[in-house]
Amino acid sequence: MAEGKTGTTKVLMEETRIFEPPKALAENCNAWQWAKKKGFKTEKEMRAWCGEHYLEFWDEMAKTYADWYKPYTKVMDDSGMPYFKWFTGGKVNVFYNAIERHIKAGKGAKVAYHFIPEPTDQAEKDYTYQEIYETVNKLANGLKSLGVVKGDRVSIYMPMLPETVMAMLACAKIGAIHSLVFSGFSSKGFGDRVDDCQAKVVFTSDGFYRRGKPMPLKPQADEATKGIQSVKNVIVLKRTGIEVPWNDAKDVWFHELIKGQSAECKTEELDAEDRLFILYTSGTTGKPKGIEHAHGGYCVTPAQTLHWVFDLKENDVWWCTADVGWITGHSYVAYGPLCLGATTIMYEGSPDFPDFGRWYKIIQEQKVTVFYTAPTAVRMLMKQGEEWPAKYDLSSIRLLGSVGEPLNPEAYIWYRKNFAYDKAPIMDTWWQTETGCFVISPLPMTPCKPGSVAYPLPGFNTTIYDEEGNEVPLGEGGNIVNPTPWPSMLRAFYKDEVRYKKEYWDMYWKVKPGTYLAGDKATRDKDGYWFVQGRIDDVLSVAGHRIANAEVESSLVAHKDVSEAAVIGKPDEIKGEAIIAFVILKKDVKPSDDLAKELKTHVRTTMGPLAIPAGVYFVDDLPKTRSGKIMRRVVKAKALGNPTGDTSALANPEAVDGIPLI
Ligand code: PRX
Repeated sequence: MAEGKTGTTKVLMEETRIFEPPKALAENCNAWQWAKKKGFKTEKEMRAWCGEHYLEFWDEMAKTYADWYKPYTKVMDDSGMPYFKWFTGGKVNVFYNAIERHIKAGKGAKVAYHFIPEPTDQAEKDYTYQEIYETVNKLANGLKSLGVVKGDRVSIYMPMLPETVMAMLACAKIGAIHSLVFSGFSSKGFGDRVDDCQAKVVFTSDGFYRRGKPMPLKPQADEATKGIQSVKNVIVLKRTGIEVPWNDAKDVWFHELIKGQSAECKTEELDAEDRLFILYTSGTTGKPKGIEHAHGGYCVTPAQTLHWVFDLKENDVWWCTADVGWITGHSYVAYGPLCLGATTIMYEGSPDFPDFGRWYKIIQEQKVTVFYTAPTAVRMLMKQGEEWPAKYDLSSIRLLGSVGEPLNPEAYIWYRKNFAYDKAPIMDTWWQTETGCFVISPLPMTPCKPGSVAYPLPGFNTTIYDEEGNEVPLGEGGNIVNPTPWPSMLRAFYKDEVRYKKEYWDMYWKVKPGTYLAGDKATRDKDGYWFVQGRIDDVLSVAGHRIANAEVESSLVAHKDVSEAAVIGKPDEIKGEAIIAFVILKKDVKPSDDLAKELKTHVRTTMGPLAIPAGVYFVDDLPKTRSGKIMRRVVKAKALGNPTGDTSALANPEAVDGIPLI
């Protein structure tokens, strides 16, 4: 296998399979309809024009997708770079766009969420736009009665429930800033974030369901907020009915707070730049980073990108499996689909309860048409075998999606075949908490290559720079950058100007000020298809050559016996780093020395000699974040005998014990 000039192995870029989209889909999709209207002859021409004329493009999108109380006078203001402002002078509110305007348009009876509880003996429930409108108004009045005003921070530590979205919307409505923390986080993790943003009110629930059984959550919220002076009230949703500790001075039930409140509440007319939320990124080191997002941008790009990439139409049934506590949930379970007036499936629980057929069963019963999940889930289901999807009718699916990490070709092919009988294209979307919306992704008319996220979306000038700020030619790797801003971009780190500039803007400031450094590496093949290689800090240096951990992992999981893999670098006197692989085998495959050898040979043949793992270790499990990302940092620390740090926020802290010392 040849090495690129940067030393990046080119295994993925030699992909020759191209999947053409079904003709009817390509022809009728929302994105192509727009392109045709504009007179573009090809997708390439359209993407190029939209990048070059990005302000004109976003101006049109802002007018198409959002309703404004008062029109903006300037599309974008870069005078305070890197603190870009969008839609200056405009007055807007994302609640108005997500809910209120649909009521005004007479669409209140449409189902916004079809909620499916995890316990199979509980009834499923539809939440219409009208119901959400009324409950949010009452809740917003309730928040006001607790003294919450515009600009106050409200922390939300709740499970995957429609009420969680309603809590977000109630904050948005009155101009309070919400800050969700995934409910699987430890109380310490939650407390640090509440303290950082100095929340006035906290939302939580009595508990949640795990594997069908009620588990407490309120005690963790109490523990987290103990001693935090800013927190005046804790609003508790009754979800499980389990007993919870109670403090009359502070605690108030969600249902009691809204009882007797008026179902009318005036929506605050906000400046486009007024903050909508703070979301802390999982941050592999030190203090979490509080990423701030603004109302104006959030009224535009989640809806527009969802409309274009996933082609949502009036009768589609959209299912994004992400928890609403993550950015994917913010943009594509809450704001995006609501702004489009779509119907979204919300499933409370895990994909393997009561068995591995749960997701397929939901798709069959709800006739889900567009399905969006993460590679880790695809691989987990792949490990269970094709017999599970084969039991269900999944023919309703017309588009699939993926996010969060590279979707390796093996999983890609399996996903296409088993979720949609090879007839639905996969939209592999690259984006981040910081971007707020998809940035690099196919559109439904794009011919797709397995493992590739295709090209930057219209309106983005995303490209790849070398260390000096030169755009790298096709075939070479470098840093993903956005040289031009976009509406739902991050606005700041909460109270941390220094780190904000350092992490995202300093790198190319001298050569190209205002260039956003994403923190990921990528390459493009000869046809311009993008392949994301992983985080900057997750790139190995072996004998002076850069090899992305994700690429070696992708090679390993392409082997027929491998289910998942984590690759780390072990310090090596001669090579700098040696590659060490931790591998989970598929069901019924036995670990052996011969298999370890075979895997090394497999990597050699797919990636070249530089990428051969010096060691292959078989493990039963790998530590993961709650969003499903393998924590290489923790694997590495454990394997090298270093402190693993706080592992309480992991989905499976016990997996750490199974990582051998190497
Ligand atoms: O490394 C990229 C990876 O996930 C990072 C962003 O993580 P987070 O802010 O938690 O948001 C996840 C959901 C948007 C990126 O820097 N990533 C995201 N999507 C992809 C991806 N890596 C490869 N392919 C993707 N499609």
